[in-house]
Amino acid sequence: MANFEPILSKYFNTPESWTLKQYRSRGGHYGYATAKKAITEFEPKALVEEVKKSNLRGRGGAGFPAGVKWSFLPENGKPRYLAVNADESEPGTFKDREIMAKDPHNLLESIICACWAIQSHHAYVFIRGEFTREAKRLQAAIDECYAEGILGKDVLGLGKNFELDVTVITGAGAYICGEETGLLSAAEGRRAYPKIKPPFPAVEGYFRYPTIINNVETIQCVMHIIAHGADWFRGIGPESGPGPKLFCVSGHVQKPGLYEVALGTTLREIIDMAGGPIGNIKGVIPGGSSMPIMTPDQLDTPADFDSIRAAGSFLGSAGMIVFNDETCIVNALLNLARFYHHESCGQCTPCREGLGWLEKLCHRIEFGHGKEGDVDLMDEVSVMIKGRTICFLADSLIMPVQSYIAKFREEFEYHITQKRCMTDTEAGKFKAIEDMAVTA
Ligand SMILES: Cc1cc2nc3c(=O)[nH]c(=O)nc-3n(C[C@H](O)[C@H](O)[C@H](O)COP(=O)(O)O)c2cc1C
Ligand code: SF4
Repeated sequence: MANFEPILSKYFNTPESWTLKQYRSRGGHYGYATAKKAITEFEPKALVEEVKKSNLRGRGGAGFPAGVKWSFLPENGKPRYLAVNADESEPGTFKDREIMAKDPHNLLESIICACWAIQSHHAYVFIRGEFTREAKRLQAAIDECYAEGILGKDVLGLGKNFELDVTVITGAGAYICGEETGLLSAAEGRRAYPKIKPPFPAVEGYFRYPTIINNVETIQCVMHIIAHGADWFRGIGPESGPGPKLFCVSGHVQKPGLYEVALGTTLREIIDMAGGPIGNIKGVIPGGSSMPIMTPDQLDTPADFDSIRAAGSFLGSAGMIVFNDETCIVNALLNLARFYHHESCGQCTPCREGLGWLEKLCHRIEFGHGKEGDVDLMDEVSVMIKGRTICFLADSLIMPVQSYIAKFREEFEYHITQKRCMTDTEAGKFKAIEDMAVTA
């Protein structure tokens, strides 16, 4: 993928890239020229069809086709909302914050296009509470748009009777606010409890009005699709899920950071862009910490929705975490178990209690108190939890548990029988776990 020119991150390193002045100075399809084109040249339904034709798939985790989701909106005359999911709390993921901080006008132009397509007059951007810089940058860009008549009563002054407001809502820092119905609860001013689906938000969402929820990066793609056409977009990467994609590469690589490639670039190529691994690779999580781990023999897998799925994992949010062979898999899993247990909202017993049991089991194995049969017990507990909860937060731990055990079972067993870690190679370098004054 040597010839790929960044599209989404093209202006990230340009000075003042977040200002309207800089955005307009780019010329071409930027500077709200594409929003004007969308409103003046496309009927809303034709725009939905164009996005459908592009095969744009959601960048927030599930990979659902955006145009198909938009077409689920009921024709019932009720107000419709767009909720842009900027919660970005999945460990290993740091792309949406960059879009908001470095190219907020590009996002706003896409929001205008999307709102015209779905005929919404109010878009909410729900931003993770910790993202203060991003919220300020986006709000400043919104203020510029109101001052210039780009947003408000008559969008872009086109006289098309199209009114649009964009509001920033900041969360309070809970991971569950990123789950789409948890996000809606929080946006409605309540505790971020996920809701049972159906009804899906497109039918009953924000205050029970039809609401489209899309990830920041998904929305950012929209204006590029309108500017260059669905066929252009489909030409980037595999047809079943094409387009440019931001990969967040972290862990044991020489140059961790954000890398934009065409979907379908292999995991190995992306790791090479990040300067290559530090040491020997033991495993790669391709799509954020909740995704099943992949092994070095799978590095030539194309990083796209269907290929990663066929290889037993998911592209998720494209938060790629590389582990080298000095990583203790049990310790890594314990870290995740702590996180997901802590972030459970507590509504469902299998999640609230079960994730706690998994954390305890993992803790005692890691610290030398594991018992024979504990690995099977972890597996059994995870089977009892999977698919039995309101939202997918519980499964976000189940997927790593099951895949780490399947692929690195001997490391768990070694901890139990030897009371130390397989990665402790040099005698005397690491303190034996049994000496540690830790109780599970
Ligand atoms: C526990 C949990 C957390 C999630 N967090 C996020 C998030 O931070 N950002 C996001 O865009 N999607 C997140 N999602 C996915 C959303 O529920 C939803 O699928 C997504 O926002 C839809 O947008 P898309 O179709 O554009 O991907 C999360 C899902 C779950 C189950
Ligand atoms: S699965 Fe967990 S986070 Fe999701 S609703 Fe149930 S208790 Fe809450």
